[in-house]
Amino acid sequence: MSSMINAAITGTGSSTPKRVLTNFDLEKIVDTSDEWITERSGIKERRIVENGIASSDLSLEASKQAMEEAKVTPEQIDMILVGTVTPDYLLPSTACILQDKLGAKNAGVMDIVAACSGFIYGLSTAQAFIQSQQCKTILVIGVEILSSVTDWTDRNTCVLFGDGAGAAIVQDTNDDRGILATFLSGDGSLANLLHIPIGGSKVPLTEDNIKERKHFIRMQGSEVFKSAVRSMGDATERILKLGGITSEQVDLLIPHQANIRIIEATARRVKIPMDRVFVNIQKYGNTSSASIPIALDEARKSGVIKPGSMVALVAFGGGFTWGSALVKF
Ligand code: COA
Repeated sequence: MSSMINAAITGTGSSTPKRVLTNFDLEKIVDTSDEWITERSGIKERRIVENGIASSDLSLEASKQAMEEAKVTPEQIDMILVGTVTPDYLLPSTACILQDKLGAKNAGVMDIVAACSGFIYGLSTAQAFIQSQQCKTILVIGVEILSSVTDWTDRNTCVLFGDGAGAAIVQDTNDDRGILATFLSGDGSLANLLHIPIGGSKVPLTEDNIKERKHFIRMQGSEVFKSAVRSMGDATERILKLGGITSEQVDLLIPHQANIRIIEATARRVKIPMDRVFVNIQKYGNTSSASIPIALDEARKSGVIKPGSMVALVAFGGGFTWGSALVKF
């Protein structure tokens, strides 16, 4: 038996709200059109929660599916990592709330704030805890209720975002598979291009500053676009190099679903044809940290990912943050 411990994804799950908001619905809310949104972003519709549904609720449903597939009991979970920028509360973490809902009483719990890269940061953290033998079973989540921080009067942003959750169980294995490599990076000097200006310790909320609508996401779209294409391309090239493989050996690329044009530009740059790139942005819009685990779950359940498949995951998000992972199933 090999002494090398690998971290394998043994179960996945996802949860998206039932309520669908189409581009035609948005035409009635802001000055936009189905044609503009489709051409510029590839999005046709997104899912939005009913009032009162929190990130922990969507996470719970996704987690149960992942645990069932991996045949993991709540007591077996050593660590819960929740990638989110839309937690239930500022305090406590959403991981704590999810722990209680699951009854995962033996788990360490923390949220990871890396915006759209949150799930990749979570996977990389899980891999490190498993390979250092501090944990055997980790629940990694990417969840977002972006509708709660979206300015529904701002057509520059409100057409892009959606709600959802994805989960993965990561476990130790001696098999020659699992998370083969991860790469994480960031650049905090570009924070102002995509951020929520108020509501933290720097500018706490007041009745007056809420009127300026600065507690919602602000974004400079075309600047973010350029950085995303560059960073997602770099992160993909980097992970292939770390994994010692070429782009021809990638069975599936799962990029963060922010914009179909960013996805296509990334694929072109790393020479992976679009028939080996997973796309579901038309159904969900940009669900930030949830987009990769939702796509991963759909790709596994639809049979696009099979045992032995070599899958590259790549994300970019606010912060800026970016990163990638190479996983053999
Ligand atoms: N409907 C109609 N027109 C819109 C619009 C909408 N929903 N949103 C913006 N516009 C207008 C703008 O006001 C602008 O008009 P102007 O030229 O008269 O000022 C015009 O469309 C073009 O805007 P521009 O920003 O140049 O478009 P774009 O081609 O860059 O596409 C985004 C805009 C937002 C779709 C694109 O920049 C993008 O996806 N950026 C990255 C966003 C992202 O991924 N964020 C999350 C990162 S994880």
